[in-house]
Amino acid sequence: MARINDNYLKLKAGYLFPEIGRRIKNFTEANPEAKVIRLGIGDVTRPLAPAVIEAFHRGIDDLTKVESFMGYGPEQGYDWLIDTIIDNCFAPRGVQLKRSEVFVSDGSKCDCGNILDIFDLGNRVAIGDPVYPVYNDTNVMVGRTGEADEQGHYEGVVYIPCTEENNFTPPIPAEKVDLIYLCFPNNPTGAVAGKEQLQQWVDYALANQAVILFDAAYEAFITDPAIPHSIYEIPGAEKCAIEFRSFSKTAGFTGVRCAFTVVPEALMGKTADGREVALNGLWNRRQATKFNGVSYPVQRAAQAVYSPEGWRQNQEIIAYYLENARLIREGLQAAGVTCFGGTNAPYIWLKTPGGSSSWDFFDRLLNECHVVGTPGSGFGPAGEGYFRLSAFGQRENVEEAVARIRKNLA
Ligand code: MLT
Repeated sequence: MARINDNYLKLKAGYLFPEIGRRIKNFTEANPEAKVIRLGIGDVTRPLAPAVIEAFHRGIDDLTKVESFMGYGPEQGYDWLIDTIIDNCFAPRGVQLKRSEVFVSDGSKCDCGNILDIFDLGNRVAIGDPVYPVYNDTNVMVGRTGEADEQGHYEGVVYIPCTEENNFTPPIPAEKVDLIYLCFPNNPTGAVAGKEQLQQWVDYALANQAVILFDAAYEAFITDPAIPHSIYEIPGAEKCAIEFRSFSKTAGFTGVRCAFTVVPEALMGKTADGREVALNGLWNRRQATKFNGVSYPVQRAAQAVYSPEGWRQNQEIIAYYLENARLIREGLQAAGVTCFGGTNAPYIWLKTPGGSSSWDFFDRLLNECHVVGTPGSGFGPAGEGYFRLSAFGQRENVEEAVARIRKNLA
């Protein structure tokens, strides 16, 4: 009989969102008449921008003619999309990137997990708590950790608590680590990091020859002009950071699938015998071997996100979600709930009223308000007593959910 990867058995529970799905299914089967409003998983609800849809259609039309048909594309993405990304996301912020440093992919979640292929298991990894569960679980799966303790912390991982006291921004660890996950604007707390904070992380990484895995999937929601959108706005980051970007939340591509990862050529790692090797070449090799690129029409659609009309239309969609976030935050604050996030991020991180546990509050909202959120403890033990609401719903649903929660709490 084939041996399994035993590391999978160390994973604490099912992945958070399937567990939420299971509870919703049980509830809706028992209460088929209930109108359940989902503000749990951060999944977009607005249709693609018209300019993006047109480009998507044109991309499909290209595939219908011999002259413009496209087969396999470059595993790294088409040059025209990479150039568009560099010219629109990085150059205006003073960040110079080469084509060879940007890798188009089918998602940040996949890239965040896949990146572990190019790192040795002996690396010590620092992960925030609470955190996007993918960082934890993928390290468990590859075998970098031991078993979980009763709190849900895996042996061998350095956890950095993100608490109300530190504004949910992780402090620099006292010990030396080799890999550090940072996510700003943060999922789940909605916290952002300013230039000074990020500079401290870059300085730490350079001093300790560590690599920062910077998840910027929510950068499009930054409204404060002082907040950096890319880690590469911080001097020295090109020597110590990999950045993950996504079209999922930026342009409604959660179902379409397109993202990109930046691995600067200046970023080095070392071999077992101490030689320096560029991580860019390793990631390129990994992608060329295990990935066949994003489909041509999807890349055409992604390119249109940066056309003048596409950009304007997408900004309207982002403003729509940010207005949802404001309605949730202010609506709940008026009901006496302590809320964080939701100004530079599409997530509201709230303290559970009456100090109830995160899952108790989840069940209360589901059973009494028919509203789904995400229990904070699902993002790590430091999330216990907190709860996340997503601003990606339809406006009328958001308004109704806020009204139902307020009535319930009154
Ligand atoms: C979330 O709700 O945390 C996100 O939608 C998950 C993801 O982007 O994979």
